[in-house]
Amino acid sequence: MWVRTASERDLQEINSLLVATWHDTYDTIYGAEKVNEITGIWHTVSVLKQRLAQPNSEFVVVDTGERICAMAFASTQDGKLVDLHQLYVLPDVQGQGAGGQLLDEIKICFPEAKRIWLEVEETNHKAVAFYERKGFVECGRTADCGEPGSGIPALIFELVLD
Ligand SMILES: CC(C)(COP(=O)(O)OP(=O)(O)OC[C@H]1O[C@@H](n2cnc3c(N)ncnc32)[C@H](O)[C@@H]1OP(=O)(O)O)[C@@H](O)C(=O)NCCC(=O)NCCS
Repeated sequence: MWVRTASERDLQEINSLLVATWHDTYDTIYGAEKVNEITGIWHTVSVLKQRLAQPNSEFVVVDTGERICAMAFASTQDGKLVDLHQLYVLPDVQGQGAGGQLLDEIKICFPEAKRIWLEVEETNHKAVAFYERKGFVECGRTADCGEPGSGIPALIFELVLD
């Protein structure tokens, strides 16, 4: 498994990864219908393509040589505070280090960063445990996870970097 920057030819596979991982993670929380609705808006190839072109951002994947098994997308406005918007590992690959590898890569990609922020669903216990293991602490809550007006509540976690 190695980490590399995503490219346009990866986007269909990343869409499939997000759809599969979202259903596995969130069907029991939001319901499958809501997950279909969200992934149909947030994870289309055209939305992913916009992210690929976004300035001051990093879009990275873990490649096994046979498939893409994990992805992460992060951005910053001032270089100091990094927003980790997405970190998803395919269900059958979770717990094998891919998420940790991507988090390490994001830190390397933003060498001036002082803090990393992210939003995480409170009952997504696996992700909460992962972030706490990696040193993140809860620092707030949002009523609009993902985008203004989403109406999806979430915790805000922060990692303070050395
Ligand atoms: C959360 C997620 C990104 C973690 O990635 P991962 O590849 O499964 O995690 P890793 O194997 O890299 O684990 C890294 C560390 O976290 C720990 N960890 C991972 N999952 C854990 C869990 N459920 N409970 C406790 N510790 C956990 C590991 O023990 C490991 O510790 P170490 O560095 O001391 O060895 C991944 O499981 C995932 O994609 N989950 C579903 C989607 C999701 O919830 N994404 C986050 C949305 S905010």
